Order: sequence, then structure tokens, then C-alpha cells
Amino acid sequence: MRIYKAKDYKDMSRKAANIISAQVIMKPNCVLGLATGSSPIGIYKQLIEWYKKDDLDFKEVVSVNLDEYKGLERDNNQSYYYFMHENFFRYINIKPENINIPNGMEMDEKKECENYNKTISDIGGVDLQLLGLGHNGHIGFNEPEEAFERETHCVDLSQTTIEANARFFNNKDEVPKQAYTMGIKTIMQAKKIVVVVSGEDKAEIVKKAFFGPVTPRVPASILQMHNDLTIVGDEAALSKI
Ligand code: F6R
Repeated sequence: MRIYKAKDYKDMSRKAANIISAQVIMKPNCVLGLATGSSPIGIYKQLIEWYKKDDLDFKEVVSVNLDEYKGLERDNNQSYYYFMHENFFRYINIKPENINIPNGMEMDEKKECENYNKTISDIGGVDLQLLGLGHNGHIGFNEPEEAFERETHCVDLSQTTIEANARFFNNKDEVPKQAYTMGIKTIMQAKKIVVVVSGEDKAEIVKKAFFGPVTPRVPASILQMHNDLTIVGDEAALSKI
């Protein structure tokens, strides 16, 4: 496990964007596993900037997103499809057919999970997976459980996650209660994993997840077993380790 300490959110974003950019330069047709949330927004901004300067080219890159709310239309401004397009894809030259995000409008859970697993295996797995970290230790929407869920599945979101996400909706009742998410096994099969964490409110869970016991009660703790894990955090998020 490598830990890079950044001064602040901007510095964290730049450092993590450098790692992703190195991946794209070394393997132009790489598969990037991408995340939504507030942590990666600065990374996407930085990558867009480098793309505009002609330092990066995404024309052969394939992306696969971690998760999507179940029941939100793509054009709902809270869907992760919308988020990814607004914050990243519409500014770069990634091909639309190379973008993969679970289909939140597929109500047949079994069908969607099988489809997404097949998509990931057909593209040959993930080269670099970018992750944020939930306050309860979730990665993707893999919530604290009795056992690690392996592949794409439909989850009932925990109360803490619903509350944390309520800030993006008019009220808590509008937050979807379920989501599709890549499973832990798929995440762990990524060749490289980069976790980005920012802010003092993440300090406690960073300590638990990366220096505490490996347990499905803290899903991110499994990442300790990955052989190419990089954590990029700002001083506040790394203040307890
Ligand atoms: C997003 C995702 C979530 C977030 C996590 C942290 O696709 O899967 O696991 O990474 O909830 O969110 P932020 O970055 O908003 O603190």
C-alpha cells in the first residue's frame, strides 16, 4: 500500500490525476474504473484540462463505472450517468460506446447484474479502479455487511448513505433506496486501485479501513489485501494515521 499525502483537495486531485494520466499514456486502450461523488470531481477537472492542452487522449479508453442508482432516468440530474457526463465525459474524446454504467432503469435486477458482469469480463477487466470512500467504509455501494458481496448486485442503501446523499436531493425521501454496484471481487480484480480521500470527516474511516482489521463490516478494509493499492489523501483525511 502506497500513501501519498497532499496539501489539500486540489493537490490531492492533481496527484491522483497524474496516476490516471500515466495509466492512459502507458496503455491508451486501458479500462478505467470510475467513481462519482465529491472526491473525484477535482481529478476529472484536472484530466479535462490536460486533455484540452493535448497532453491526454481518451479515444481508445474504455470506462466502467462503479455504480448507479436504481430507478433514476439517465437524464435525472442525480443519476450517475448524468454526473459522469456533466463532470467528465462531455469534455473529452471518449467514445460513447466505450462508456459503461449500470442501467438504473432496468428493473430486472438479475438481468442487469448479469449484463454488467458480462460487460466487465468482455472488456477484459479493469486496469485502474478509482475509488472514493464512504463514511461507513463503503466502496461503490458495497455497504457494511456480514460477508463481502462478490459481483454486481443490487443493494438496499444504508441509512447513513441515504443521509449523506440527501444533500444532493430536495429532501431525504427523494434519495433512491436502492442501487446497482460492482461487487468487491470485481473491484479487487482491478490491476491497480487508487483511493482518494479528502477532509477531516474521512480521517476516522481512513484509519479503520486501512489500518484496522479486514472485515465486511468495513468493506474498504479488504483493499489492504490488494497488491497495487494507492491512497491519495489530503492532510485532513490522513490526520489520524
Ligand atoms: C461513488 C461511490 C461511492 C463514493 C463514496 C464517497 O461512485 O461509489 O462509494 O465514492 O460515497 O463519496 P464522496 O466522494 O462524495 O465522499
